[in-house]
Amino acid sequence: MNHALDPLASDVLADPYPFLARIREETPVVYSEAIDMWIVTRHADVEEVFLDPKRFSAAIAQAPLMPLCDEAMAILKADFGIQPVMSNFDPPGHSRIRRPLARAFSTRRMRMLEPVIERRCAEILDGFAADGSADLARELCYPLPALTIFTMIGFPDEDADRIKAWCADKLVVNWGRPSAEQQINAARTMVAFWKYCLSFVERRRREPGDDLTTDLMQDADIPEPLTDREIASIVFGLSFAGHETTTNQLANCIRAVVENDLWTRLRYDRSLIAAVTEESLRQVSSVIAWRRITTQATTIGGTPVPEGAKLLLSLGSANRDPALFADPDRFDPQRDNARAHLSFGKGIHLCLGAHLARMEISIVLNQMLDRFDVLRLDGDGYTFPPNVAFRGPETLTASWDLA
Ligand code: HEM
Repeated sequence: MNHALDPLASDVLADPYPFLARIREETPVVYSEAIDMWIVTRHADVEEVFLDPKRFSAAIAQAPLMPLCDEAMAILKADFGIQPVMSNFDPPGHSRIRRPLARAFSTRRMRMLEPVIERRCAEILDGFAADGSADLARELCYPLPALTIFTMIGFPDEDADRIKAWCADKLVVNWGRPSAEQQINAARTMVAFWKYCLSFVERRRREPGDDLTTDLMQDADIPEPLTDREIASIVFGLSFAGHETTTNQLANCIRAVVENDLWTRLRYDRSLIAAVTEESLRQVSSVIAWRRITTQATTIGGTPVPEGAKLLLSLGSANRDPALFADPDRFDPQRDNARAHLSFGKGIHLCLGAHLARMEISIVLNQMLDRFDVLRLDGDGYTFPPNVAFRGPETLTASWDLA
């Protein structure tokens, strides 16, 4: 095994950026035996792949990174009825589903969610502000995006903890190197969550609500209505996409603000929040890799790759490519092209939740800045979940002086 090219090696998990910079400089498109994938590191190459769904299929975007053991496979085969609908679906099927889903992410729905997020964020912060310290990852960054996406879908609040536990299992199976025992446990919880999604959709057919799931059922502009299985597959995917990503981005962004001494500046100039958010998406993205598979033998940035080659598109590397970003390792909210980052992907699969994620980050920063005069990070080092795609600190211990 080529350890030097293993994105799951412990030193790479702790800090992937030197590893990525070295690949980008030496062999920008390179095969990794450790994960049986081609790692693509330059911004221009990653962008080219995203923009060409004919040559580069999204089919493996949600597949287990490593082959599953027989027992886990058997559990999934028997009862896991999910079908490709969004991030792992190619045209024309993808376009049929993306159109109504994009409509369901309407301005009206976002406007309805904004006060809900503000209220919940205030409740969470007021719940621990007087303590003077907390693990912000666990107490703030984790619950808020989960409650937000569950409200958007229409899941009852009381099921939130159960749903969050189910989503955690998907992370290790689809993007990590789980043991056989972890695979079997995760397969069981994925089946349990799938059944939950399906029965939730069936209930919404009988009892419509004011939520995205009901919008998908009632969309009058869709030529061929979505089936329950399709809607349940969307709901299943959104539950994960909507919170794991934003949880980590919140933590990465708060950390970047403090480590770059921007707290006081932001307190007195809130207009900087948008630029800080964007620079955090570029410099410390919560999604550092995404996947595609070639549909034909082709070249990427001059490197030949065979048909059926699995690609690990390194967003973390593309976002720090010096060909596009000057002094790329520096956190610089003033840079004028931070928005050229690829953290939300690009092209036909461009993240539908980007606006919502930016809104959540802005609300959280604003409310923290209102309450905390000074914010300090107290942890002695950070740990990250062992997977190739989703990156954020597992704990973010902080203390503060109240404003
Ligand atoms: C900082 C937070 C987020 C990041 C970094 C992120 C990142 C991504 C990435 C990399 C993709 C794949 C794009 C591609 O293949 O070209 C994606 C797709 C997607 N994201 Fe996000 N995401 C975030 C938040 C959210 C939220 C909050 C939601 C939902 C409420 C969401 C829903 C989706 C959906 C539905 C897709 C699939 C779109 C498609 O296949 O057409 N994301 N996201």
